Amino acid sequence: MNILVQKNYDDLSKKCAELIKAQIAAKSDSVLGLATGSTPLGTYKELIRMNHAGELDFSRAIAFNLDEYFPIKKSSDQSYHYYMRENLFKHVNFAQTFIPDGEAPDAAKECAAYDEKIAAQGGIDLQILGIGNNGHIGFNEPDDKFTSATNHTLLDESTIKANARFFASESEVPRHSLTMGIGTIFRAKKIILLASGAGKADAIFKATRGPITPQMPASVLQLHPDVTIIADEDAAKLIQ
Ligand code: GLP
Repeated sequence: MNILVQKNYDDLSKKCAELIKAQIAAKSDSVLGLATGSTPLGTYKELIRMNHAGELDFSRAIAFNLDEYFPIKKSSDQSYHYYMRENLFKHVNFAQTFIPDGEAPDAAKECAAYDEKIAAQGGIDLQILGIGNNGHIGFNEPDDKFTSATNHTLLDESTIKANARFFASESEVPRHSLTMGIGTIFRAKKIILLASGAGKADAIFKATRGPITPQMPASVLQLHPDVTIIADEDAAKLIQ
């Protein structure tokens, strides 16, 4: 694991955007795996700036998002469809973008089709991840086993509480999601995990220094050959 500690959130965002830019420079038709949450917002702002400045062209690149609430309407402003459209996709020029469909009539079918679409594009070249306070990646919550494929999953109570800030009330947070599995994520050629703020310090400590266990989903990344963790000083305070 390569751990890059940055002074603050701004530096973390710039570093991540630079690494994405380098990926596209090396392979213009890269398949990117993208994340939602507050953490990647600065990275997406920087990618938009680079794109508008003519420094970064996504016209041959493809994006697959990690996850989506289930069920949720794409038009809902809490959906990850809405988040990605507003915070990145409508501002830049990706060739194609994919997000699990929170309106799918058959969740299992949607999950299987999502993995097939990723495979049809040759797999993910670079996957961006955030991390939940409980160590979840995508919406893969602490569990007895690592999930392999994209799956329909129940959200943890702690995740519902953490994500309630984006909804009018906790009761409005969907209880389920569709998420790339740990296996789907693990098959990405390169992975960058972002963590910002003291609230993530414990998860980063356990994910990087603790035992590899499905109870701490991000700990599986210790086994991946090409993982970069970009953390600000607050998130890295227990591992420095
Ligand atoms: C959500 C997303 C995750 C994300 C996590 C952390 O639950 N499904 O992919 O990494 O939240 O979010 P934040 O960056 O807001 O802390």
